[in-house]
Amino acid sequence: MYLTIEQHIIQQQRKFPDSTGDLSDLLYDIALAGKMISKEVNHAGLADILGATGSINVQAEEVQKLDLFANSLFLQIFEKSGRVCTFGSEEDEKCVCFEPDQVPGKYAVNLDPLDGSSNIDVNLAIGSIFSIHKKISAGIKGTEQDCLQKGSKQVAAGYLIYGSSTMLVYTTGQGVFGFTLDQGIGEFLLSHEQMTFPDRCTIYSINESNFNFWDRATQEYVQYVKSVDSPTGRPFNARYVGSLVADFHRNLIKGGIFLYPSDHKDPKKKSGKLRLLFEASPLALIAEQAGGHASTGTEAILDIQPSILHQRVPLIIGNKDEVLRYEGFVKKYRG
Ligand code: AHG
Ligand code: MN
Ligand code: MN
Repeated sequence: MYLTIEQHIIQQQRKFPDSTGDLSDLLYDIALAGKMISKEVNHAGLADILGATGSINVQAEEVQKLDLFANSLFLQIFEKSGRVCTFGSEEDEKCVCFEPDQVPGKYAVNLDPLDGSSNIDVNLAIGSIFSIHKKISAGIKGTEQDCLQKGSKQVAAGYLIYGSSTMLVYTTGQGVFGFTLDQGIGEFLLSHEQMTFPDRCTIYSINESNFNFWDRATQEYVQYVKSVDSPTGRPFNARYVGSLVADFHRNLIKGGIFLYPSDHKDPKKKSGKLRLLFEASPLALIAEQAGGHASTGTEAILDIQPSILHQRVPLIIGNKDEVLRYEGFVKKYRG
């Protein structure tokens, strides 16, 4: 008999006798949103929800309808729950600070509501990424300060992946657990207990069309993993979906390294493309909890103090040995 996500979260909560249960309830809220988004994703073609809305998000990228659907769904759920003080989203320029009547929400949530949006209309795996911090600001209302915290301060993080099946993967710092949605009964069931990266890393994931715009360290590292000098004695396999969640999830299960370094093709990508608070930080906590590592090439992702909500960072994440090896290339070629 599989454990449902509710049963599992209650079991975890019992390890902390002082817990009020709010974090557990917030995780259920996210699981509920995940089920609703999963249903929408599966009906995307039928419901005519595919395609761009024509509007542009704060990152100046085209917004797909499902992004908007997911963003407003999370917002509504958090607003009603009373558990969230501040909500930062990749889709919104500013965070939403909730002002409760009496008791402040205990947690700040940072979210990439729909990751991999360019893959929506080609029926490839997409996801949602979430990061949860404790409220640190004074007063009843949440502030942006609650969202601008180091990754190492996260109390929970995870992602939903809408792929050949829908999964929710999360950590509260007690290891990484994966649940698969049983569509028939509408429940997430524990399918992957204590997930860890396999010892052997055989995959590299990077958008290699940027090769000529990378610095020497990244070029040399990629040439290395493609050669017979690689740690496996044969070239790593290249796998790149273009949905961070999907690329990360595959590498977590099969053993791999994902890289989105900075490049000099696009001035916007001078400090990388991916967002620290909505993408890098939550996946970094999952990676570390699964025995892996996440780095900019020079610094652990979890140690970065964010200065702005939409901060971008280079992200190198996956099997620890490989991420550390990349850092070695950076030291050698960047000095
Ligand atoms: P989002 O859909 O949330 O904007 O994220 C897209 C991101 C990420 O999912 C993926 O790893 C990366 O963009 C792919 O970028 P390239 O197309 O430049 O390779
Ligand atoms: Mn994303
Ligand atoms: Mn997104």
